[in-house]
Amino acid sequence: MNKHPLIEALESSGAVAEPAFKEAINSLHLKNNAKVLDVACGIGTQAKLFIERYPQIHITGIDIVDECIQYAKKLNNSYIEKDSCIFEKKDMNNLKFADNTFDLVWCCNGLWPGSPENGCPAEEPYKILEDMVRITKPGGQIAILFFSSQHLLQGYSKLEAELTNTNAALGPTDTKKSELHFMKTPLWLKNSGLANIKAKTFAVDIQAPMSEIQKAGAHFLMYHLYAQAEYEIPKNRWEVFKKITDINSKKYILNQEEYSGFFTYTMYTGIKNK
Ligand SMILES: C[S@@+](CC[C@H](N)C(=O)[O-])C[C@H]1O[C@@H](n2cnc3c(N)ncnc32)[C@H](O)[C@@H]1O
Repeated sequence: MNKHPLIEALESSGAVAEPAFKEAINSLHLKNNAKVLDVACGIGTQAKLFIERYPQIHITGIDIVDECIQYAKKLNNSYIEKDSCIFEKKDMNNLKFADNTFDLVWCCNGLWPGSPENGCPAEEPYKILEDMVRITKPGGQIAILFFSSQHLLQGYSKLEAELTNTNAALGPTDTKKSELHFMKTPLWLKNSGLANIKAKTFAVDIQAPMSEIQKAGAHFLMYHLYAQAEYEIPKNRWEVFKKITDINSKKYILNQEEYSGFFTYTMYTGIKNK
């Protein structure tokens, strides 16, 4: 049976991004028995990393896609049996949890403002954030993470800049309203009443020789980010991109012995006042 495309995407991109997620999770210094909510948990890979790092916590993962929840349950089966986590199909626009429930509300790559047709939960983040604050304990923390930048096409900086500067590649990171750009998350957190707002960026190096899963993740990222740019750049420039990202080509960039690239995730945190 064919895999749901979202699952395939989260498997490969999640595997390559794991070092950033681990660093981000580690930097949160959670106390024993902390209660964590993973909003838009995808296939549950970050929930697993949380429990591996903090075995005493309890984590609830929610996502709107049933296939993701089923996958997350399988992946974390042993932790579900130990009562360390649960996964539920839920819309983040309707966080039906009691007030002051969680020590940490975490949402990675889930709060892109934009049209639900494009997979975004809402046109603006404030209503969801208001609910996240409501269900966070006083003194508890909210952590919002976004994929924030990339340099993947080593030796082809101009081509990468051309590809990046397209509506397709900027996608959810671009918006006519500057306040809705993800880098304005500190403002969203401040306007939602949070204090001690911080931003921290975590880089992931992708370097040859790569494992197959790393290669698959890097390949997925290049196509996920740039595939639709085909219609916005000159044909001859697109041909160059195709040649260096064709796995059967001698020029396949990820097979080059000295290949290295990187991408970043940025985590924005804020504390709910006591
Ligand atoms: C880019 S994925 C990120 C998944 C995961 N947080 C990660 O970083 O691997 C975005 C996730 O948001 C979920 N999602 C989209 N709209 C949602 C909504 N309204 N409520 C809950 N989850 C939603 C999607 O199903 C998808 O799993």
